[in-house]
Amino acid sequence: MRVAVTRRIPEVGIRTLIDAGADVYIWPESFPPTREQLIAFAQGVDALLTLLTEHIDGALLDALPTVRVISNMAVGYDNIDVAACTERGVVVCTTPDVLTDTTADFAFALMLAVARQLKPATEAVLRGEWRTWEPLGFLGHDVSGATLGIVGFGRIGQAVARRARGFNMTVLYTDRDPQPAAEHETGAQYVSLDILLQQSDFVSLHVPLTPETRHLISAPELSMMKPTAVLINTARGPIVDTNALVRALQERQIWGAALDVTDPEPLPPNHPLLQCPNVLVTPHIASASEVTRARMAELAAQNILAVLRGEKPPRAVNWEDVRGQLQQHH
Ligand code: NAP
Ligand code: GLV
Repeated sequence: MRVAVTRRIPEVGIRTLIDAGADVYIWPESFPPTREQLIAFAQGVDALLTLLTEHIDGALLDALPTVRVISNMAVGYDNIDVAACTERGVVVCTTPDVLTDTTADFAFALMLAVARQLKPATEAVLRGEWRTWEPLGFLGHDVSGATLGIVGFGRIGQAVARRARGFNMTVLYTDRDPQPAAEHETGAQYVSLDILLQQSDFVSLHVPLTPETRHLISAPELSMMKPTAVLINTARGPIVDTNALVRALQERQIWGAALDVTDPEPLPPNHPLLQCPNVLVTPHIASASEVTRARMAELAAQNILAVLRGEKPPRAVNWEDVRGQLQQHH
């Protein structure tokens, strides 16, 4: 078994592969390989352990014809052309569940940080500008008791809703379909996207990036939000139309935004979004706790080992479509 890993990852992921007898090749740079570098680096391997920074499509697979599994160390897989993989009998695997709570924690951290102006307040302290307790200083918005709108009520969206109960929030959600069991558990209420945008104090995005969700939040949607509302994006940057968001913030159509993901990613330091009032941008770190990143790496490795043994991997996207072709290999 020959496995190429496209960046340094937590040791447990590598150890899991090596202990199973795999030869592991690790891309040593801090930046991801370019397409040409990846093709040269991964020639002859059976598996690729990728990150969301790698774009995997049919042309890349054709240049790496020995690859039988792409194991993404992420739950999102919009960086992978799954149809192209399926067509070529390549299994696509991901790392759901293990990052759900850590990501939901982070969505809450962003919500609290923007609502209570943590960034400008700590910056003022660091600059020595804070001299005394101020009755009118850094006034924000309460999270407790506010209305939270969750767009995409899957694993992470529901985990955010569970946290919101502790803050006594009213929780609205929208998804492709109502989810009665999750509603019962979380107390959330299913509404249309329009109603959610009109009524929520905080709108938190948790849909995957797909052709349907690209620019799901654009000028018309932003104009429906309350002038006091905050947009939180821990899903994928292109779900929000960046230019429309800049305009909405500049024109004070909404009060603030907290973004762990942006389009483009990263934003250039002089990007107008970074100059907008009440904007907090973090470097795509919602799943970045030591324990969670280790679990993601381990699961990504286990996915690879299962596929290369001809077994059903713990978390695959297209296993049912590919298993027949794969079994011919064994
Ligand atoms: P999930 O369990 O699949 O939840 C996504 C939910 O969105 C599902 O209920 C899905 O419905 C719904 N959905 C899909 N397309 C929709 C549409 N067009 N309109 C309305 N709802 C739609 O995924 P998850 O584990 O919660 O992860 C969600 C996303 O978070 C990932 O895809 C990833 O991009 C992002 N993420 C980011 C970070 C980070 O570091 N910032 C970390 C983890 C995850 P169906 O089930 O019917 O498809
Ligand atoms: C991170 O963004 C993920 O999709 O896991």
